Amino acid sequence: MDPKEFLGNIILLIVGGNDTTRNSISGGVWFLNQNPDQYRKLRENPHLIPSMVSEVIRYQTPLAHMRRTALADTEIGGKTIKAGDKVVMWYASGNRDEEAIENPDSFIIDRARPRQHISFGFGIHRCVGLRLAELQLRIIWEEIMKRFDHIEVVDEPKRVYSSFVKGYETLPVRIAG
Ligand code: HEM
Repeated sequence: MDPKEFLGNIILLIVGGNDTTRNSISGGVWFLNQNPDQYRKLRENPHLIPSMVSEVIRYQTPLAHMRRTALADTEIGGKTIKAGDKVVMWYASGNRDEEAIENPDSFIIDRARPRQHISFGFGIHRCVGLRLAELQLRIIWEEIMKRFDHIEVVDEPKRVYSSFVKGYETLPVRIAG
């Protein structure tokens, strides 16, 4: 790789692997507080952590979309796309598609197929760090559950103002040991 390409890849690894996992951690805390029945279920069944992590990644959709440029004329959902057209793929929308996911607007930590979401994209550029992301989030939740009975959200989150990164600037919490 030439230095510019090398730097580009390093930045992709640092940024792609940071905002996404960080905002999934905050998202998990927020969703469990919004859904106390699910938080209770998790405390009673810590083996649900891996499927809870996937549900958080779906429900949060840390990156709302990516864009592609069509190489050939095609048609999707009755819409014509011409070669050269730029197309936005809204993962945030696909992750709430009721034709693909049952009760998509509900946060359910024990879904039958929790990894069936498109937060990591799809196709040749599908996130190269997805297994690492799932591993990091699983480990952090295992450690959180061991250490703290409850993390209580004490105020509304302040969200990142962006159509790309779905994340949090602040999420005030109180931690009970
Ligand atoms: C929950 C966490 C994460 C989410 C939601 C996420 C999401 C995504 C998405 C949507 C893409 C684009 C896929 C596409 O264009 O089709 C992507 C690509 C990528 N991600 Fe992640 N990512 C996460 C964690 C990570 C981690 C931990 C790393 C590495 C440390 C990472 C590194 C990358 C890289 C290098 C690419 C570019 C792959 C390519 O273009 O071939 N990501 N990610």
